[in-house]
Amino acid sequence: MPQPFLVSLRRSISSAICTTKVRTRLVLAFAYVLITVIVALTVPLAVNQRERAESDLLGQAKVTAQAIAASFDEASLAPASRDRLARQAERDAEESTGVAVRALGLGPGQVVADIGAGSGYYTVRMAREVGPTGKVYATDVQPGMLRLLVRRLDQAGLTNVVPVLGAVDDPKLPEEALDLALMVDVYHELSRPQEVLRNLRTALKPDGRLVLIEFRKESSWVPIREEHKMSVKEARIELEAEGYRFDGVIDILPWQHILVFKP
Ligand SMILES: C[S@@+](CC[C@H](N)C(=O)[O-])C[C@H]1O[C@@H](n2cnc3c(N)ncnc32)[C@H](O)[C@@H]1O
Repeated sequence: MPQPFLVSLRRSISSAICTTKVRTRLVLAFAYVLITVIVALTVPLAVNQRERAESDLLGQAKVTAQAIAASFDEASLAPASRDRLARQAERDAEESTGVAVRALGLGPGQVVADIGAGSGYYTVRMAREVGPTGKVYATDVQPGMLRLLVRRLDQAGLTNVVPVLGAVDDPKLPEEALDLALMVDVYHELSRPQEVLRNLRTALKPDGRLVLIEFRKESSWVPIREEHKMSVKEARIELEAEGYRFDGVIDILPWQHILVFKP
């Protein structure tokens, strides 16, 4: 084969390879710029949206607190809630509340929720644990209960609690905001438990925890009506059906157990 032909063939091949390499680099550079622009535009939008949702909720909470402060009638409370209020004085002894709160392992700066907070018996204790850099969302479906809660917060001088008037199927909390959601003596009272669990899952951070404190059904001697008790087995059946993972039971309270689940 003649030499000049081979040289020119080699040149054309290497020039084709070079052109392809340049083209590939250009395409990669363009894709990189495009992805960077998309990320730069969408991430702040998502953050803004979450911040806006949170500030809407805070605004709504303020309005709710003012509205319920203006219209409270103790007679409007459910009979079970009135009974519970009457028992407040004995609660610390019966339920070892301090032990229960310490077992939750809360720390300064955490964001937590007291679902079915009632008059805020646990809310104030959690608010002290998470401190001024943390936050407690206290939700209930009874405006009267939130009124008592607001009064308790005023007396305790706590400003890191957001009262939220929830719906029976939705505690109305921001997405992926919570390190922990607590329900004390509440789960068995929910009329729409599956919907509440689904909405709570979206409010929990991926490594957050849902904790139920319920009177032990396994201990027949616990002096509480059967319909107000829950066994570990019952709780697991209900929560695992909604995709929660059982993380364990803390059995250190006189009458109740502390059931820990992960979303
Ligand atoms: C037995 S009380 C417990 C109150 C509080 N956790 C405590 O330990 O003092 C149950 C509370 O759950 C509230 N509740 C019932 N269904 C609810 C729901 N779907 N969402 C939020 N709170 C609810 C009731 O209004 C009531 O205040």
